[in-house]
Amino acid sequence: MNKKIATILGTGSYLPKKILTNADLEKMVDTSDEWIVSRTGIKERRIASEEEHASFMGVEAAKIAIERSGIKKEEISCIVFATSSPDYIFPSSAALAQSALELEEIPAFDCLTACTGFLYGLSIAKSYVESGMYENVLLIAADKLSAFVDYKDRNTCILFGDGASAAVIGNSNRKNEQQILEVVLGADGSLGELLTLPLGGSRFPLGNSCSKGKSPYISMEGKEVFKHAVRRMQQASLICLSKVNLKESDIDWLVPHQANQRIIDAIAKRFSISDEKIFLTVERYGNTAASSIGIALDELLALNKVQSKEHMLLVGFGGGLSWGAAILKQI
Ligand code: ACO
Repeated sequence: MNKKIATILGTGSYLPKKILTNADLEKMVDTSDEWIVSRTGIKERRIASEEEHASFMGVEAAKIAIERSGIKKEEISCIVFATSSPDYIFPSSAALAQSALELEEIPAFDCLTACTGFLYGLSIAKSYVESGMYENVLLIAADKLSAFVDYKDRNTCILFGDGASAAVIGNSNRKNEQQILEVVLGADGSLGELLTLPLGGSRFPLGNSCSKGKSPYISMEGKEVFKHAVRRMQQASLICLSKVNLKESDIDWLVPHQANQRIIDAIAKRFSISDEKIFLTVERYGNTAASSIGIALDELLALNKVQSKEHMLLVGFGGGLSWGAAILKQI
């Protein structure tokens, strides 16, 4: 029997309509368009409305991914929802998505790995499909970090935007699909304090006296996170390449987590990837957390520029700390 190879059958993405520009932020905090663009590459980001919570955006992206996958929604056998801003702690956003998509009683669960969520989800989907446990997995990655950003904190409010992406992963071999050759993941919880959302979990529950003084907003040691992001993304990419016997020069497209243009530049320089082979959304959407790699992948594939047999390196980093890389091959 042929070995199953997990393949992306279709992708989708969703961005809220409301745009928050650097000029808007200049009116809210002591910052400037020049500072934001030179330090991050971000010009604007999307902000979700009250109705556009994580599961809503994820479901919209999923509808497109299912439509493009060429399979019927009834053929999906599991949902993985990557997010660090779920609608609720429970029910899971995956379960809410299952209901909104009117799917059968298939398993559905959330994966909480911050900005590395798309890659962790891809790894789970790959394992399920290749082991034969589930035939077709719907991966959704959606985040509404604007709900946890302090728009008085110039260190963080300039960075994040809202959005969602989705991919249907199955066992197939059709032209213009992407084989998931390898996914490499890592985490270092000892550095978790560098990027946190302190309030609202079981350690510091909302409304509990022990939570007094704890912030309901994202806090980040930006400089430290930056250093670890560059190092870990380079490391994960190298391990991933070696696992599939590819050389650095075999990377045809870089699809990175879109946190900061300077982080992406450092990765591209290390692997000698030319600008036209790096797919960027950071200028338009900022850091959309778990959804960012999926949004970039969806937009790159829509351009029909990726040729048969070309390799894409997906690489990400986020809270946890967590990181990962994946190699896709266009069929
Ligand atoms: N406008 C103007 N000045 C600012 C702003 C701002 N928006 N923000 C900070 N500054 C000031 C600081 O106060 C500081 O001033 P000081 O020297 O007087 O103290 C100065 O600018 C330099 O600040 P740094 O924090 O050192 O700036 P840095 O060059 O490191 O850039 C940034 C900050 C953009 C946050 C960068 O460190 C970064 O991108 N870090 C990584 C973010 C990331 O990758 N996150 C990972 C994933 S997120 C997730 O998982 C949810």
